[in-house]
Amino acid sequence: MNSQTILTGLFGHPVGHSLSPLMHNRAFAELGINFRYAAFDIEPGQVREAVDAIRALGLRGVNVTIPHKVTVMDYLDEIDAEARAIGAVNTIVNDGGKLIGYNTDGRGYVRSLTEETGVDLSRQSALLLGAGGAARGVGVALLGAGLGSLVITNRTIEKAEQLAEQLQAIHPQANIAVQPMEMMGDALAAATLLVQTTSIGMHPNVEASPVAVEALHERLLVSDLIYNPMNTKLLRDAKEKGARIHHGLGMFIYQGALSFEYWTGQSAPVDAMREAVWDALR
Ligand code: ATR
Repeated sequence: MNSQTILTGLFGHPVGHSLSPLMHNRAFAELGINFRYAAFDIEPGQVREAVDAIRALGLRGVNVTIPHKVTVMDYLDEIDAEARAIGAVNTIVNDGGKLIGYNTDGRGYVRSLTEETGVDLSRQSALLLGAGGAARGVGVALLGAGLGSLVITNRTIEKAEQLAEQLQAIHPQANIAVQPMEMMGDALAAATLLVQTTSIGMHPNVEASPVAVEALHERLLVSDLIYNPMNTKLLRDAKEKGARIHHGLGMFIYQGALSFEYWTGQSAPVDAMREAVWDALR
């Protein structure tokens, strides 16, 4: 770090457990570039001031995480089309004082899913479990990447219907349907890809699963966005049933890799980033 160092960072609340600083600083070191990444704990009432500080301090950009991904949009100069479709920003780029908002979560998820499993999305019938912010991000990106068809299910069915409508408006040609949770067995029998976006199974409730083990089958690729723990009950059950599995850590790494590429203009050293995160979780 010296007087030429280019600063990036994370805006969230809390940020104390984030692995992003470690992952990005390892990536900068790997490429030998004079960038650093710091975590900033921003109180909910301070988002505008924090965004102004990006300009005032000349930060190159920041990631934005819970609970600021939506609020922050009010204070940016420009929001790219995908972030607008998702309705949230997780990456800000400072382009000479002009702040542009992007969302790399959905694309990061798709890159992780396709690169780590080799799955051909155009041939998949997906069941999306959940209809919150994470579901919207991956839904937009999966359809943008040419997903074959999509069924959405959620505890609160109105939210699934609302999400389906929004996704249909963005992708008018896409094959999108909604199924109530009670019909999950039928929906799963017809699916080849299950994308789990709810918080069920997350630490500390590691024995909870949103899907009955009997409904899982070996033609499925089961993808769980949760990465703490990595082997959720759902993924353990899926493995037992002979299904292929994909856990959520890759999404975290690739959303970071895409942010890194916006800030530096260079290809992210994904293997080094993955290694940094693995080391921290071991
Ligand atoms: P995120 O940004 O992580 O998606 P969110 O927007 O709060 O968070 O969405 C949480 C999702 O998990 C929702 O789909 C929620 O279902 P509801 O819309 O019915 O609230 C789902 N979820 C969370 N806890 C759940 C539980 N115990 N049972 C079923 N669904 C649950």
